[in-house]
Amino acid sequence: MELIDTHCHLTFEQLADDVENVLARSRAGGVTGWITIGTDPQHNRKAIELTGKFENMYAAIGIHPHDAKDVTADALTELKELAQGEKVVAIGEAGLDFHYNFSKQPDQKRAFAQQLKIARELNLPVIVHCREAFDETMDILEQFGPGVKPVVFHCFSGSPEQAKIVLDKGFYISFTGVVTFKNAELTRQAAKIVPVDRLMLETDCPYMSPEPMRKQKVNEPALMVHTAKYLAELKQMDLADFAQAVTATSKAFFSLPEAPSTRAQDIRVKRDLIK
Ligand code: NI
Repeated sequence: MELIDTHCHLTFEQLADDVENVLARSRAGGVTGWITIGTDPQHNRKAIELTGKFENMYAAIGIHPHDAKDVTADALTELKELAQGEKVVAIGEAGLDFHYNFSKQPDQKRAFAQQLKIARELNLPVIVHCREAFDETMDILEQFGPGVKPVVFHCFSGSPEQAKIVLDKGFYISFTGVVTFKNAELTRQAAKIVPVDRLMLETDCPYMSPEPMRKQKVNEPALMVHTAKYLAELKQMDLADFAQAVTATSKAFFSLPEAPSTRAQDIRVKRDLIK
C-alpha cells in the first residue's frame, strides 16, 4: 500500500524534532509520501528545507488566515519567489477562518485573494482552509479563482450540500481524521458522495488524531491509515483499491512524479534511443 499524507505540518514543534522517526513510522504504516504545509514565512522556509532532506517529501507554502494580518508586500514577494522551488507543489494553506477570527475578516479576504493571484501566475494548485466561512470562500474563489489549476478544500467538515457545491465547481475535497469522529455524521454523509478521483487524504497533524487513536495527543502521518481504512469501508471498497485510487488522485492533483525509479528508467531508455 502506498498512501500520501497530502497535508501535514512536519515543521511544527510537536513533530519537527523527531521527524526522522515520525517518517520511519509513517513508511512502516504504508504512508510513503508527504506534503508538509507552511502557514507563515518562517514555516514556509522550514517546509522547503525539509523537502531537501527527504525523498517523496514535498511542500505547499502559504499564509494561514490566522496570520493574514501580517501579510506585507515583502511577504508576498518572498512567497512567490519560494513557490517557484522545485519541490513546492501548491500554494496554501490559504483561505478564511471566521471561527477564530485571529485576523480581521477584510485582512483574511485580501490575503486569500492575493495568494490566489500568485497561484494563477505560477500555475499551482491551491490548498484552501475554510472554517465557518463557506459562502465567502466560494465567493472569493469565484472572483479570484486560479482558473487554471484546481483547488482542494482541506480538512473538509462540511455538509453533503456543501460538498456538492465544491464538486460542481470542479474542486477537490480532502478528509482528515475528523471523518472518523463520533459526532461527524454530516461529514460522513459528505464523504459518501465524493468520488475517489476527487478525494484526498491528510492528517493535518499534529492535530486531529483519527479514531481509534484520538487520545494520542500528537497526530502523525502513520495514523492516516486509520482514516483510509474508515473511508474505504464507508465507500464499501477494498482498502488496497481505495488507497491506490486516492493516491493516483493526489499525484495527479499535485503533479507528483509517478515513482523516482521509473523516471530514472525512462531517462535511460530515452538515452538508449538517442544512441
Ligand atoms: Ni493545516
